[in-house]
Amino acid sequence: MPIHLKSDFDLTQMRIAGDLTRQVLDMIGPHIQPGVTTLELDQICHSFIVDALDAIPAPLNYRGFPKSICTSVNHVICHGIPGGKRLKNGDIINVDITVIKDGFHGDASRMFAVGQTSILGRRLIKTCQECLEKGIATVRPGSRLGDIGAAIQQHAEAAGFSVVREYCGHGIGRGFHEDPQVLHYGTVGQGLEIKPGMTFTIEPMINAGRPETRLLSDGWTVVTKDHSLSAQWEHTLAVTDNGVEILTAPKS
Ligand code: MF3
Ligand code: CO
Ligand code: CO
Repeated sequence: MPIHLKSDFDLTQMRIAGDLTRQVLDMIGPHIQPGVTTLELDQICHSFIVDALDAIPAPLNYRGFPKSICTSVNHVICHGIPGGKRLKNGDIINVDITVIKDGFHGDASRMFAVGQTSILGRRLIKTCQECLEKGIATVRPGSRLGDIGAAIQQHAEAAGFSVVREYCGHGIGRGFHEDPQVLHYGTVGQGLEIKPGMTFTIEPMINAGRPETRLLSDGWTVVTKDHSLSAQWEHTLAVTDNGVEILTAPKS
């Protein structure tokens, strides 16, 4: 599939969708406390997206996904399905939000620590966030997708962690998952050249232990094979004429 370069109109719409995604993450943060279930988090996000934002939660019924958000706790890498399990003190959780507004997608995720988390958990969360930042810092016209992956891999492995290989970032726009695939490992100078008008996500998944994954029998939940902790952070980006714009960036 060709890569769809976005027009100024498209970018205006993507900015709106990205900011709504950011708003959902800001809204849900204070609800992430010991004792809450991930199903409750899903319901709160669903209502906010539909009623307050007049938008659509993209995961719901996407290829059969049953809920409106993904909640990935501890050794769950990604695509965790919200359910009745209660969060407990010390858990780490990724909340991944994708909204559709007027036909355009915004996609972002953050890690949250539930109560008091282990030093390892906190270090994993921080290192993974830095991986995302270092990946983003390579993005400008003329750089290559391999530059993103190399920056992420280098930082994760220097910290003694590993990069998940089976899942990647993606082009995004009217489609949830468009080309190109954005790998979180790689070699500087390799891969597709980055061009103005490209919009894609970077969403590194970093494991405290080995990189291998296992898909649970629900067909969605991806866990670390060695049951080590895993973290993920995600932003949606637009490549501008001279750099990059983070469409899901927190408001400062
Ligand atoms: N939001 C995820 C991503 O970053 C995809 C979730 S697909 C779902 O690409 F069906 F699990 F929601
Ligand atoms: Co994504
Ligand atoms: Co996502």
